Amino acid sequence: MPREQCHKLCIAPMMQYTDMHDRYLLRLISKKVFLYTEMIATGSLVHGKCFEQLEFNNEEHPVGVQLGGSNINDLIECSKKCEEYGYDEINLNCGCPSDRVQKGRFGACLMLEPEHVANCLAEMQNAVEIPVTIKCRLGVDHHESYEFIHNFISTVKKSGIKTFIIHARNGILKGLSPRQNRNIPPLKYDYVYKLKQDFPELDIVINGGIKNLEQSQMHLKYVDGVMIGRSAYDNPFMLKDIEKIIFNEEPLVKSKKEILNKYLDYVEIKASEGHNLPKMLKHLFGLSKGDKNAKNFRLKIIEAMKNNEVTSVRNDLEDLLVY
Ligand SMILES: Cc1cc2nc3c(=O)[nH]c(=O)nc-3n(C[C@H](O)[C@H](O)[C@H](O)COP(=O)(O)O)c2cc1C
Repeated sequence: MPREQCHKLCIAPMMQYTDMHDRYLLRLISKKVFLYTEMIATGSLVHGKCFEQLEFNNEEHPVGVQLGGSNINDLIECSKKCEEYGYDEINLNCGCPSDRVQKGRFGACLMLEPEHVANCLAEMQNAVEIPVTIKCRLGVDHHESYEFIHNFISTVKKSGIKTFIIHARNGILKGLSPRQNRNIPPLKYDYVYKLKQDFPELDIVINGGIKNLEQSQMHLKYVDGVMIGRSAYDNPFMLKDIEKIIFNEEPLVKSKKEILNKYLDYVEIKASEGHNLPKMLKHLFGLSKGDKNAKNFRLKIIEAMKNNEVTSVRNDLEDLLVY
């Protein structure tokens, strides 16, 4: 797929949510959506040697890995490792405002150091063949003007990277929790549209508060791509129309029951390999979103999580889905 097409619709990196199992589930529903891992801190790879965090399923492609870090040598080493693992892209997190991340001098606070970010990205891109991209906010704290993000991008683009994913609100480094930081600072989609006008040579992907495919289509009139986080996790079946509406192809799946069965086949294999069953099952909660039996479906999943066994409730789960 040409570069400007591959980010047309992306699923946001989300810690505790978009693990390899959730990504497998989403890939059963959409062939083309671009997936990202949860953020992986470079320190835990380089110093903690926790490489199992990089594991992913072959079926997940196209999938990017998101790194959190600011030490250039660590970022280079991790980028090489991620390429070796077979990821399609490496994304640098410059949007997370949590205290823990700030202490490590990465995430959103890096927006105050655009030259350093440009150096990191240039060195990462020099070290690997796959594309390196960035996910950032519009600004941090009181830096709320359009000029701030314009200057940030003008500097960072000198690294040579082409794709900027922009969460269309500021990050507040002191006083708001990460959760509040995803809801309270106002969304400014017009800033992101203007960035595309001012930097037509870059791929600009818009993120934040986008609820459905209709809204996505509207944004695609102004930018190259859309990234959806919470709405896609809460209602993964909404992705089924992506193939048709966004990419003009036949849908990959027709029914929720079909997805359930394919996912549970996968879950049973992975559980037998030692993966945690409840962690895999929790991603199914959203599949019944909007159905009349949604609550009972979720209760059945909770029962399976508690019993650490899903085979005996497979038929019940299927019956509880509407189609
Ligand atoms: C539970 C959760 C975890 C998140 N973890 C990450 C992360 O690891 N890296 C990142 O760049 N953004 C993270 N985010 C932010 C999302 O990627 C996204 O920018 C944000 O949720 C806004 O998009 P949405 O309104 O479509 O959800 C997280 C969001 C949520 C809800």
